[in-house]
Amino acid sequence: MSSDSKHLPVLVDEVISYLKPQSNKIYFDGTFGQGGYSKKILSLNSKVIATDRDSISKNFARELKLKYPKRFFFKIEKFSNAKDILEQFDINKINGVTLDLGLSSPQIDNSSRGFSFNTDGPLDMRMDNKRKEITAKEIINEFSESQLSEIFYYYGEEKNSRKIAKLIVLERKKKEIQTTLELSRIIKKINFYNHKNPSTRVFQALRIFVNDELNELEKFLSNCLSFLSKNSRIIIVAFHSLEDRIVKNFFKENIRFLKIITKKPITPSSEEIKKNPRSKSAKMRVAEVL
Ligand SMILES: C[S@@+](CC[C@H](N)C(=O)[O-])C[C@H]1O[C@@H](n2cnc3c(N)ncnc32)[C@H](O)[C@@H]1O
Repeated sequence: MSSDSKHLPVLVDEVISYLKPQSNKIYFDGTFGQGGYSKKILSLNSKVIATDRDSISKNFARELKLKYPKRFFFKIEKFSNAKDILEQFDINKINGVTLDLGLSSPQIDNSSRGFSFNTDGPLDMRMDNKRKEITAKEIINEFSESQLSEIFYYYGEEKNSRKIAKLIVLERKKKEIQTTLELSRIIKKINFYNHKNPSTRVFQALRIFVNDELNELEKFLSNCLSFLSKNSRIIIVAFHSLEDRIVKNFFKENIRFLKIITKKPITPSSEEIKKNPRSKSAKMRVAEVL
């Protein structure tokens, strides 16, 4: 499938209405993707510092740089390095931040990236495939049965983690497991009754592990209060319960420094889900720095 499929930004109107970007104030878009959020913020005369760890974002960033040379700055980087990135641009404090976690549509749709269990591709799953070393293939073929089972259990909340890990180890003795569909076929032998796609949880787990996604989020959150100015807002859109829980707990644990704006997470409307089924599991939480 095409590697340049369009990503429909999720909850973008809600993000903007809670962020309330103001003229000449500075916002950090840590998950630039195809720039759906950045474009809106820039259209309101604000400045944007954006990052994405995937170099495919460069092409979209280039377009915005041409349009807004003095108000838009982009780096291929992990958002956990936000503090350093801001320092590189000589910025101490910003006025708001957005993180739209997970994957963009082109990452999922390009079978060569190995994120999808619907099309065949190499078991890769690295978001920054130009830099990061470990791939899903190495994990599946080299990790011990108990390591695999723990990954599936903790990062995928997969009930059959042990059985799946056991079968993987049996199968890889016969032949190295190389592709997404090969892995998916093995999982289906155990999760044959699952009403969702039987591979969803294992694929989620591998992706989180390969990209160290939960640590990325925790690291970002633990630093962000140092560069967010008073009254600035933290807006995070999460797509699974592990990430959402981290955000929710961070807001609660920092209640001395933050006002929680969304008591319950904001979710997409039925119209948005109809237009963009990938938005279905999104949960947006917002807090304001006191
Ligand atoms: C759901 S998409 C964001 C889409 C974007 N809001 C838009 O409208 O185009 C998530 C993006 O975050 C990036 N990403 C995920 N984790 C990251 C991290 N730790 N640091 C930087 N970028 C990350 C992914 O590469 C992907 O491009």
